[in-house]
Amino acid sequence: MSAKKRIAVIAGDGIGKEVIPQAVRVMEAAAAAVELTAFDWGADRYLVDKTTVPPEGFATLARDFDAILVGAFGDPRVPSNIHAREILLGMRCKMDLYANVRPVRLMDASFCPLKGIERKDLDFVVIRENTEGVYGDLGGVFKQGTADEVAIQEDINTRKGVERIIRYAFEFCATNQKIDGSPRRRVLMCDKSNAMTHAGGLWQRVFKEIAAEYSHIETQHMYVDALCMQMVRDPRGLDVIVTNNMFGDIITDLAAGLQGGLGMAASGNLRPGHTSMFEPVHGSAPPIAGKNIANPFGAILTAAMMLAHLGMTGEAQRIEAAVLEAVQQKKTTADIGGTLGTREAGGWVAERVSRR
Ligand code: IPM
Ligand code: MG
Repeated sequence: MSAKKRIAVIAGDGIGKEVIPQAVRVMEAAAAAVELTAFDWGADRYLVDKTTVPPEGFATLARDFDAILVGAFGDPRVPSNIHAREILLGMRCKMDLYANVRPVRLMDASFCPLKGIERKDLDFVVIRENTEGVYGDLGGVFKQGTADEVAIQEDINTRKGVERIIRYAFEFCATNQKIDGSPRRRVLMCDKSNAMTHAGGLWQRVFKEIAAEYSHIETQHMYVDALCMQMVRDPRGLDVIVTNNMFGDIITDLAAGLQGGLGMAASGNLRPGHTSMFEPVHGSAPPIAGKNIANPFGAILTAAMMLAHLGMTGEAQRIEAAVLEAVQQKKTTADIGGTLGTREAGGWVAERVSRR
């Protein structure tokens, strides 16, 4: 009987097709007990037969795989981006991957555009609600094309959805440590309840309710605009942040900027007890695709996050340590100061991992 974890690999479009092979190579170098199956979902397939997600696609992923490793979607040949929406947002929503976990850490002080921020100063996690909010794309247009046109974009917040993501954040805080080994202590809830009172009110009430169950965890609340300023002015006190889908999207790009750009940021789209999906935070980056210049570390760190989630913590730690070593020795792509190509940076990390 094989104890190997079954991983569906969907590289997707653009630089996804370059960085995911590097992540795969590094997992193999770590001798991780995984069995990989590649899926061709993405723009190329869509342009051939108009398939975004094949029939039973999500059901197959949920039934036959332990996790999914995704690259990126988006291709100028598909201006509507319908395939990206149906595959990526479809997976998050239809597979109910409700917790988007995006760790923010600094591998080298020089990557952070802020003055005086050291490695130890940046170690927080954004827990982004991943199935509701404005991403449901509910709404419509009325009198389109006239001077009286009305566009309505609904923001969905369910009691169940809000409660489970806030609970996830508290549970995450209670059971995860910072990189230096100290416990996580605080959950900050970010909303815009001063302007969006209906949704904000629900988030506020649920946050207070769940917080009462975790009396040892500190709580804090910030409006999203104020949090953006705080993240740029002094991100040192940030620990666990929980927020809705849209604010989570925006603040995690800001956070990626703090840690060295989108090329370094990893994420997991989780549904506890079910098949979860892991993807680098960056997109398909069409302008730099196919040139062997994309940073593969976000994808490699994402693979490490996936292995840790599947219980392979030793392999995950070896991979993270090798990426850190690559950063310290400037064996990186140009976006973070090195001179290597995508394949060469991936190869360097793979080689280090195999020696550890
Ligand atoms: C992300 C991306 C996606 C999002 C896009 C590609 C739809 O920006 O994963 O953060 O908005 O969630
Ligand atoms: Mg985003």
